[in-house]
Amino acid sequence: MTKPKVYATHSLFEPARKLLEAACEVDYSPGPARPARADLLEHVVGKDALICLLTEKINDEVLDAGSKLKIIANVAVGFDNIDVPACTRHEVFASNTPGVVDETTADFAWTLLMAVARRVLEGDRLVRSGQWTGWDLDQLCGGDIWGKTLGIVGFGRIGRAVARRARGFNMRIIYADAVRASTEFEVEANAEFVTMDRLFSEADFISLHVPLLPETRELASTKHLSQMKPTAYLINTSRGPVVDEAALVAALEAKKIAGAALDVFAKEPQVHPGLINRSDVILTPHIASASVETRTKMAVMAVQNVLAVLDGRKSPNALNPDLVIA
Ligand code: GLV
Repeated sequence: MTKPKVYATHSLFEPARKLLEAACEVDYSPGPARPARADLLEHVVGKDALICLLTEKINDEVLDAGSKLKIIANVAVGFDNIDVPACTRHEVFASNTPGVVDETTADFAWTLLMAVARRVLEGDRLVRSGQWTGWDLDQLCGGDIWGKTLGIVGFGRIGRAVARRARGFNMRIIYADAVRASTEFEVEANAEFVTMDRLFSEADFISLHVPLLPETRELASTKHLSQMKPTAYLINTSRGPVVDEAALVAALEAKKIAGAALDVFAKEPQVHPGLINRSDVILTPHIASASVETRTKMAVMAVQNVLAVLDGRKSPNALNPDLVIA
């Protein structure tokens, strides 16, 4: 019996590869660069499933080329790269990897928060430069973390995991979201629901955890950034376009805020030139979920989504779960 054919735009971690290769014939993009659009369009021809990363834009063009595709499995929780309604129109499942990234991403939001507040990278650069002259009273003084107010924008799984970590720092936690959490959960998380305006004006640390939607695009706007305290920091591990980068540069330039730590950018891999040389900014290359454990789980989960659909079942993490294939 011939095995179903899968195109994977990236090699996968070994446990995922083994699982996939036991059931499917797999065509991996050779890497290390992301496949060119023309290669993607060529390699989906005749394939039953596509495993892709969030760097691949999945739209009608891909779905037309891959007319045999039954599933597009994103190895990511975010899926703003996939036109899900187009997948549904083409009777193709689309899936993501929810749940497994939450704790690791929350760890990283905290990594950035602490690093920017306590000027860790500036300290590292100073020591390496050979210019460090020894302990000094006012050297690289940052902002305290403990006892401050943490503002979480987007109180979903990742936002809540970030909130849990704040307890040990004895922080006040406020959050803003389109949907308010239950009272029970607010009590358990010790978090107070506030408006977006209040969040931006009261928080000492603002950590963004919203998906990219029309209503969250450039949510960190000139208006909201100008509400921030001059001692406050902005942390973004969600999606780049949630921050108006030009407005952020202007706010930093005018010292309206103390600093920012960004793992995601509006036009990755490009970075706004006004951010590059700033010492009050930390820039990391979209690695918030990048632990070996979590990235392996994400790859395995994407494979499980593929195998379910190829086996005639629904993908467990379908983004279009109502799709019924005749
Ligand atoms: C990473 O950004 C993801 O969406 O998994």
